[in-house]
Amino acid sequence: MATEHERLADPEEAPLEQELEKSLRPRSLGAFVGQPVLREQLGIFIAAAKSRGEPLDHVLLAGPPGLGKTTLANIIALEMGVNISTTSGPALERKGDMASILTQLQEGDVLFIDEIHRLNRSIEEILYPAMEDYEIDIVLGQGPGARSIRLPLPHFTLIGATTRSGLITTPLRDRFGFSHRLDYYSVDDLALIVARSADILDVQIDAEGAQQLALRSRGTPRIANRLLRRVRDYAQVKHEGHITGDIALAALRLFEVDDEGLDRVDREILNLILHKFDGGPVGLSTLAVAIGEEADTIEDVYEPFLLQKGFLMRTPRGRMLTSHGYRHCGVEPPSAAQEPRPGTLFG
Ligand SMILES: Nc1ncnc2c1ncn2[C@@H]1O[C@H](COP(=O)(O)OP(=O)(O)OP(=O)(O)O)[C@@H](O)[C@H]1O
Ligand SMILES: [Mg+2]
Repeated sequence: MATEHERLADPEEAPLEQELEKSLRPRSLGAFVGQPVLREQLGIFIAAAKSRGEPLDHVLLAGPPGLGKTTLANIIALEMGVNISTTSGPALERKGDMASILTQLQEGDVLFIDEIHRLNRSIEEILYPAMEDYEIDIVLGQGPGARSIRLPLPHFTLIGATTRSGLITTPLRDRFGFSHRLDYYSVDDLALIVARSADILDVQIDAEGAQQLALRSRGTPRIANRLLRRVRDYAQVKHEGHITGDIALAALRLFEVDDEGLDRVDREILNLILHKFDGGPVGLSTLAVAIGEEADTIEDVYEPFLLQKGFLMRTPRGRMLTSHGYRHCGVEPPSAAQEPRPGTLFG
């Protein structure tokens, strides 16, 4: 099991880190950095619904962990001036759980379901009439005497978030009026996010320091914020708190974040494929066992970035290192190694 600081990309954080993360969440669309298309679309969508005095249509947000899906769900509720209740696919075990959440909503409320691709099918089916007609069927009694009654629901807005949009069923997907896939952030946007967070945390960081963190944040605001907190500790202990480019680099080296932003687990994945599986192909489950991680974690958390950066390739027979991946491990690629294909990002 890797220790906390090795698991740079891990979405499961310690409670203190979660608190910090909350404090760094922007609370309005205006304070949300980057994703310009999404921001503009949402701005119009929200303003239009408000001017008609109607609840917002259902929203589906997809994309890798840490890009701001939960943040946006909260911003939408704040901008609409409504309450938000939050749950997640795996937390809903029985149909009754879903029914009781739905019947407690008030007119206009946002219901945020995180990891909505992990809803169990019978629970998902409750959502269809709820989303479409604002109705829910409740079964009273058991056996032959059981009967079903239909209850009206308030007009609510469902916001679903998923790291795996490919796993959303078509009937569910079709019931969202608005859906968007979040992209990885540019280095410039990440530098802005670092500067904004530093301000909130009362940390001094210069432009070069912010740039160095942004370059190694894997396109992900959560990681940018996490790196900032680690580098802050280092700067406090060694340099009276002020973060310059050099100090940021020294700290990141200490925390084993390399120039591409890969952490120890990422490099372990590449090195395992290289040394244990001869560069691949190796199946996901075999790889997961070798690394001691859940296959889902590898697929959701680590792999998207390695694929996007072109270190790794997915083939029908499994994962393979690209020539770029070999070189990152310090090994000259064999002639059969594939060049990374630009544009084949993650899916
Ligand atoms: N556009 C942004 N501007 C500023 N900060 C952001 C932005 N997007 C995300 N963040 C920061 O990144 C952190 C992670 O964001 P968030 O929790 O919303 O990600 P997520 O997409 O819900 O991730 P997961 O899939 O793991 O649930 C938040 O604490 C927030 O401060
Ligand atoms: Mg989230």
